[in-house]
Amino acid sequence: MGQIELKGVAKRFGDAEVIPPLDLKIEDGEFVVFVGPSGCGKSTLLRLIAGLEDVSGGKIEIDGRDATAERPAQRGLAMVFQSYALYPHMSVRKNIAFPLKMAKVPQAEIDAKVNNAAEILNLASYIDRRPGQLSGGQRQRVAIGRAIVRNPQAFLFDEPLSNLDAALRVNMRLEITELHNTLKTTMIYVTHDQVEAMTMADKIVVLQAGKIEQVGSPLDLYNHPKNRFVAGFIGSPKMNFMTGAEAAKHDAHEIGFRPEHIAVGETGDWKGKVTVSEHLGSDTFLHVDTEFGIINVRANGNVDVHHGDTIWMTPDRSKVHRFDAAGNTL
Ligand SMILES: Nc1ncnc2c1ncn2[C@@H]1O[C@H](COP(=O)(O)OP(=O)(O)O)[C@@H](O)[C@H]1O
Ligand SMILES: [Mg+2]
Repeated sequence: MGQIELKGVAKRFGDAEVIPPLDLKIEDGEFVVFVGPSGCGKSTLLRLIAGLEDVSGGKIEIDGRDATAERPAQRGLAMVFQSYALYPHMSVRKNIAFPLKMAKVPQAEIDAKVNNAAEILNLASYIDRRPGQLSGGQRQRVAIGRAIVRNPQAFLFDEPLSNLDAALRVNMRLEITELHNTLKTTMIYVTHDQVEAMTMADKIVVLQAGKIEQVGSPLDLYNHPKNRFVAGFIGSPKMNFMTGAEAAKHDAHEIGFRPEHIAVGETGDWKGKVTVSEHLGSDTFLHVDTEFGIINVRANGNVDVHHGDTIWMTPDRSKVHRFDAAGNTL
């Protein structure tokens, strides 16, 4: 079981309150992603759960027991970091086996567990290599293997893919998702990348300045952001925001349209000049200079519009997001 509950958990470093008291419940088997801009407290929150930092207030429960005062090793959680933290002089096998060796697990059991982890992670053919002889993705898999053999109640990942190049990141993203499908163990995954959050999570926790802005499924957050911050943070390219007369038309202080909800045509509601056109084949991304500032448009397939063209745009007004002066969704 790997149910984790935070009750009024807070963290201060000296005078700085990095995490104001917050409540959060993570169900057994869930894949939860903490996402937010750099410095918002994601790592701190994860480290509090892991026991690598002490809480300044509140309670952490793991499977219903009060784990607030437990040391990291007692909590039954395994953490995987961005820096793989492997032992360079040890083979893959020894790196993966390390926590079991430390725990004085019998050798036969160690062998079975290491082989099983290597199998799951496609590391079997690299088992005798040292970390220096592996690619970044393979090293990260070794670090994950070392977590798997501990058979944890939950895996805690802190930006594990940040050191990898873009193609490898996409690959490892799929592998971690598949790993979750296989193991069905609770996973808490920290990232600043909303695409990782959207593609991997059962449940996303959006953080800003240590505060939970919204908790929900990826499409919940995309379709029903609670406020302007979440609306602007989730979705790529970002939502377009407007105030003034355009917002007044929708009886709001501010409105937002996602780039994919704006159509390009010969006529339309808004006129603008294309400053950049990105043709990916599958999609066309346009940056259009208008009286409202730059508007991002995303069209399906290839659209024959180029830098310097003057175009018209029409938003799908049924898809408008409306906000009040405080930034809350109306
Ligand atoms: N040990 C520490 N001492 C003082 N401030 C810290 C410490 N660790 C983190 N912080 C501060 O807490 C805030 C959140 O940091 P962090 O949790 O690392 O953010 P994130 O992982 O979201 O980028 C930052 O302002 C950071 O400077
Ligand atoms: Mg961090």
